[in-house]
Amino acid sequence: MPEAVSLASVQDAEARLRSVGYLPSTEIATSVYLADRLEKPVLVEGPAGVGKTELARAFGQATGRTLIRLQCYEGLDESKALYEWEYAKQLLYTQLLKDKIAETIAGASTLREAADRIAGSEDLFFSERFLLPRPILAALRSEKPALLLIDEIDKADPEFEAFLLEVLADFAVTVPEIGTVKALTTPRVVLTSNAARELSDALKRRCLHLYIDFPTPQRELEIVRGRVPGVSEALARKVVAAVQAIRKLDLKKPPSIAETLDWIRALVLLEAATLDGQLVSETLSTLLKYEADIGKAREHLGYIAGAELPAGVV
Ligand SMILES: Nc1ncnc2c1ncn2[C@@H]1O[C@H](COP(=O)(O)OP(=O)(O)OP(=O)(O)O)[C@@H](O)[C@H]1O
Ligand SMILES: [Mg+2]
Repeated sequence: MPEAVSLASVQDAEARLRSVGYLPSTEIATSVYLADRLEKPVLVEGPAGVGKTELARAFGQATGRTLIRLQCYEGLDESKALYEWEYAKQLLYTQLLKDKIAETIAGASTLREAADRIAGSEDLFFSERFLLPRPILAALRSEKPALLLIDEIDKADPEFEAFLLEVLADFAVTVPEIGTVKALTTPRVVLTSNAARELSDALKRRCLHLYIDFPTPQRELEIVRGRVPGVSEALARKVVAAVQAIRKLDLKKPPSIAETLDWIRALVLLEAATLDGQLVSETLSTLLKYEADIGKAREHLGYIAGAELPAGVV
């Protein structure tokens, strides 16, 4: 059976995350290391676009685990998260086995007797053959060690959280018709949340907690270099300085790493060598998503275009 890499230290976690294109802070690398070694789920919170989902992907890749993702939404229930019976396939089999079924009930004197005979074969239709694993069961049954990403848990209902607690407590689930399925290898679990609602204390207690904030200038510059190869150093520095300055304005939605990357890619396409007020004004819509925020930024074009990175950011 394929094996996952076990992280040897925080430094090892950092190096492996970097090697798959994710630039962690020391705090992020520490959480990943602890989550791996303590086999504990890690709950990652923070604003949109700071790299929560990407961290799960990188964690999986860095440790040789298959990423299995459960995207949460309102109304998500066990049948979508755990397993379903494959109804269409069951139906198809009953069609194909029509003759056999007829033989089974041939000679039955009453309806009840016929039904009793069919019931004897019920197990066949509620067996692994007709089980459709959804992400959680897939992660438990995966031959290859898995990383289960439960993305945006705050969008699911509180009842779903309660159900999740049981699964996370012993990495096992019970399918009444089949029995208990225990994980072949303990998956690593990353949950993400945008804090759309407060999560239960019980869930928080079972998880390591990691808050990812907007990156420091140094880390953001390195992320830009990594994600937009070929960008000139001068433009990268100007853009990161500008974004860091914009985040200090009182905006409804400050730009995140995702938007920084969108902005700089747009500027590269426009063959910009540096920033000036007009260029900032013309391209703000790739960076800010609210008209009010764009308006506010337009009042500070000089401040944005003129921003410089602090000395020491290399
Ligand atoms: N540390 C990092 N190293 C490299 N790239 C990063 C890093 N953090 C974020 N990114 C980039 O930022 C983008 C946005 O990240 P991601 O989608 O993971 O954000 P998110 O926090 O999950 O946002 P949302 O809450 O909206 O789902 C990714 O495509 C990735 O390229
Ligand atoms: Mg995400």
